[in-house]
Amino acid sequence: MESVEWHKARAQLEWLLELGVDECIGDAPVDRYALPEKREKQTKPQAMAIPAVIAGSDPVAEAERAAAAAGSLDALRAAMEAFDLCDLKQGARNMVFSDGDPSASVIIIGEAPGRDEDRVGRPFVGEAGKLLDRMLAAIDMGRVHPKSPVYITNTLPWRPPQNREPKQDEIAMMQPFLLRHIDLIAPKVLVLMGNTACQALLGRRGILRLRGQWGEAAGRPALPMCHPAYLFRTPSAKREAWADLLALKARIEGL
Ligand code: URA
Repeated sequence: MESVEWHKARAQLEWLLELGVDECIGDAPVDRYALPEKREKQTKPQAMAIPAVIAGSDPVAEAERAAAAAGSLDALRAAMEAFDLCDLKQGARNMVFSDGDPSASVIIIGEAPGRDEDRVGRPFVGEAGKLLDRMLAAIDMGRVHPKSPVYITNTLPWRPPQNREPKQDEIAMMQPFLLRHIDLIAPKVLVLMGNTACQALLGRRGILRLRGQWGEAAGRPALPMCHPAYLFRTPSAKREAWADLLALKARIEGL
């Protein structure tokens, strides 16, 4: 009997996760239809979240200070884990820092973790990530590769709720960490996957116009490309992505 209850409870939890529930905010259920006086008794007083700006801290300045103090990748990871001013952190299961080879010549910068990445704690492990791996393999590169490894990270390390697009203020407050991350890896080339990475590092959006045109970001050559999730939904765009991959390969071989 007990094990039936266990499986039932697990099935209910999985169902809630599928619906997008990603945070438990109380130990006991609250009856929102209860009469007001009853509800007052049921509801425990909750600490009110004070927005960082009202509380007097400037999130961007705080991020700049914390990022500048990080002298290694481990220190940067710890500084990001300790950074409490980005609300996305509250809803995330895991911080997604990076994957791949820190000595790589190429850093690939995506948008933000999705559901699979949030669960696993590694970037690009879902459908879009599998496509990214196939794209890299097609030009003889990969996260783990004897000659042409890549390093992969995201503009934001926490999953936005319901995979919504990251907001400008979220991008701005995490940008100092991203810049420090790039400096610590010291890649020769950046690949900016999609609008969010372009916004953070080129200050521009419009990926369909930007893609394939080499620019400069964080003091290094940067190639904007369509995000694999977009390619997944728009197979006709794969032809241009292939041209961009070949341009990346040629650039790396010419280094
Ligand atoms: N999309 C991204 O931009 N990054 C990930 O890690 C996964 C999906």
